[in-house]
Amino acid sequence: MNTELKFKNGKFKIMSLGDLHESLELDTPHRIKRRRDMHNFIKAGILALQPDLVVLLGDTCNHRDETEGYTKYKAALRDILKPVIDAGIPFCYVLGNHEHDQEQEELIVNAYKEIENCIGENDPTCPRGNFNCNILVKNTAGTENILNLWFIDSNNCCEDPKLSKYDWVHQDQIEWYEKKANEIKLDNGGRTIPAILFQHIPVIEEYELLRKAKPHEIPFSAVEGHHLFSKNKYMLKDGVEGYLGEGPCTPCYNGGQFASWKRTGDVIAAFFGHDHTNDFTGYVDGIMLGQNKTSGLCCYTDGCRSAIRLTTINEDDPWKVNSKIYHFKDFGLNATSLGPIEKRITDKQSIAMHKIGYTAAGVTAGVAAITGIVALARKFKNK
Ligand SMILES: [Fe+2]
Ligand SMILES: [Fe+2]
Repeated sequence: MNTELKFKNGKFKIMSLGDLHESLELDTPHRIKRRRDMHNFIKAGILALQPDLVVLLGDTCNHRDETEGYTKYKAALRDILKPVIDAGIPFCYVLGNHEHDQEQEELIVNAYKEIENCIGENDPTCPRGNFNCNILVKNTAGTENILNLWFIDSNNCCEDPKLSKYDWVHQDQIEWYEKKANEIKLDNGGRTIPAILFQHIPVIEEYELLRKAKPHEIPFSAVEGHHLFSKNKYMLKDGVEGYLGEGPCTPCYNGGQFASWKRTGDVIAAFFGHDHTNDFTGYVDGIMLGQNKTSGLCCYTDGCRSAIRLTTINEDDPWKVNSKIYHFKDFGLNATSLGPIEKRITDKQSIAMHKIGYTAAGVTAGVAAITGIVALARKFKNK
């Protein structure tokens, strides 16, 4: 496929999809229904939003394929991405930790490469990970590059779990990015081209978009931080748009990736997957950090609130980012894989219900334990 990307009528629109967590085989009626719902959602999104590019943010197909040549995986990937393939829209992707779990990155990258409208090439000069690359986007007239897109591999889990559960973008990758960004700038007559970056695992700076919850907010609205941040409960800071459904699952170690974006000055926005229920966007030091919650119905999203994100850049000001989340219900769809309650519940209600559930379970366990102790004490007393 012609990999040249161009603005159309002064706009460039990117539809990003969060962790689909689809399976290798459709072996149960429920899996079939969930995939059908996901297909309908993506199809409706493409029809309504008319994106120029689709980006998959990793953790797309979970399961390792034991066949030679990864033939089952290739067939599954084609089926999972059917609405994107049928629409003929160029698409690109990043690897998630679950792609790394399979320990077959080369075969996975080949499976993507065989799909006719998959664009991008792994840059072999990047010393770590797989499918690290950039793609330049031309203006409507096709005369100059005015936007750059980075696709970065955030690796898998950290080798030292005491340091961090998840891995990060390492110094050697950062050096590759800075070198490449400098070459792009030089090729553009010394002028920096604004860039949007896509990556699976978010940067630790996402916690700068959160604040510690006040005591009265903790019971029903706040979420617990992850790992390093797990002692505190968090809310979104004022001015941060969207939804915080879980503590951002960032690495615990800061490898300096965000600092390198600031030094280089090209990244205007970075979008991440990995967190299945978060869809917020906010600015840290002038760079938009945005989450894509899952766009499928296979992981632990509650209710019918899978989402896709549309990011639009206007040619007259390519340094400005517009990004918006669209939910299943926004396209008037009816999910067949969800029950009547799941379909109606809101994000806020879902968090509150979980907390009531945990509290009720805790109280029940406490009462059961006390009853047991009292019964035992009576038994011993009666002896
Ligand atoms: Fe993940
Ligand atoms: Fe995931």
